[in-house]
Amino acid sequence: MRPTTILLTGGAGFIGSHTCVDLLQHDFELIVVDNFANSTPRVFTRVERLADRLIDAVYDVDIRDRQALSAVFDRHSVDAVVHFAARKAVGESTRMPVEYYDTNIGGTTSLLRTMHEHGVHQLVFSSSCSIYGDAGRGPLDETTPARPTNPYAASKWTCEQLLADVCRRCPEFTVLCLRYFNPVGAHPSGLLGEAPCGTPGNLVPYLAQVAAGRLDRLSVFGDDYDTPDGTAIRDYLHVMDTAEAHRVALEHLADGPGMHAFNLGVGSGRTVLEVRAAFEAACGRPIPYRVVDRRPGDVPELVADPRAVERAWGWRATRDLADMCQDAWRFQQHNPHGYAGWARRHEYEGATP
Ligand code: NAD
Ligand code: WQD
Repeated sequence: MRPTTILLTGGAGFIGSHTCVDLLQHDFELIVVDNFANSTPRVFTRVERLADRLIDAVYDVDIRDRQALSAVFDRHSVDAVVHFAARKAVGESTRMPVEYYDTNIGGTTSLLRTMHEHGVHQLVFSSSCSIYGDAGRGPLDETTPARPTNPYAASKWTCEQLLADVCRRCPEFTVLCLRYFNPVGAHPSGLLGEAPCGTPGNLVPYLAQVAAGRLDRLSVFGDDYDTPDGTAIRDYLHVMDTAEAHRVALEHLADGPGMHAFNLGVGSGRTVLEVRAAFEAACGRPIPYRVVDRRPGDVPELVADPRAVERAWGWRATRDLADMCQDAWRFQQHNPHGYAGWARRHEYEGATP
């Protein structure tokens, strides 16, 4: 049976907010838990406007706070959980590994325990292509051995392993791990998008700020990789496709127990210079760049073999790189300072547990 009431941890974030819109538009009832460490509650004004429906409740709760989390589960009859909440910056994770392990692994065990105590056993988990590390060239399928190379990736891989073990030992659990490759882009309305604090670390938000004149030029991290133009290859996936995949996952939770992991990607790779060219086409402006040293920890290529999820659920990405760049550019134009102009942490009249 399709779950009805969904609790989303980290539902205010980049992927979570887009997923909220899609789920509301498909008649799910939503409860959101987020501590707004990397987001703002004001995003829900836009989410609800886009979906023309209300979220049932938003809680300012840290998922590691089991008492507060338990109070949320006490108050609502939750059918399934989508677990986005995590810290996600690879570079930062090498500088603050304890914080990453605590939030990502500690947060996940706190959530699992609270779910178990409340008889909730259906979970969709945000995993990452970064677990594959330097796995090699060509499309990677889900049997590729995980070789995490930084604390962030290690935290995601540890979560996958503990979720698999819990599913083996407790047959009431069903867990779907979605290994996203590189989600980028924005809602086509220009109302929702990726709004990093400070200077962006990721390619597409950085390109958007160069195009807008907020940053001088893109630094291309290395052009001496063994790729057609020497720059690194990634599998960029539209955030709208990513969001839709969560709805499809929820619709398949009832397929059977156990843990199942799926790659979410387009299945083809683009170089850094190809993405820059696509962004230039989208914004109609030149994007200056210079080549600098490789970024430590970067790998030459990470591309998904996305066929398993298509075989299982019939889901595949439908939007292309031009869509991703056009939508990211529209969001940048409509929100030159991200959500900063209207983002004050405590302004949303959310419920408290
Ligand atoms: P995001 O930072 O925009 O969203 C994460 C949300 O979790 C934020 O709203 C943040 O405030 C919240 N959060 C963080 N710590 C919390 C805590 N202790 N308690 C409650 N809420 C907390 O990130 P995103 O890009 O939307 O990523 C969502 C998930 O997808 C993460 O688990 C991330 O690791 C994973 N992922 C992201 C990407 C990507 O490129 N964006 C790729 C692969 C996997
Ligand atoms: C893309 C490409 C850079 C910025 C990260 C995480 C991964 C997943 C997705 C969470 C790379 C190059 C970038 C710049 C550049 N997230 N680049 N100049 O590193 O592929 O993946 O996000 O799970 O785990 O590692 O994404 O957008 O940072 O980089 O040349 O200013 O662009 O070297 O080749 P990445 P990214």
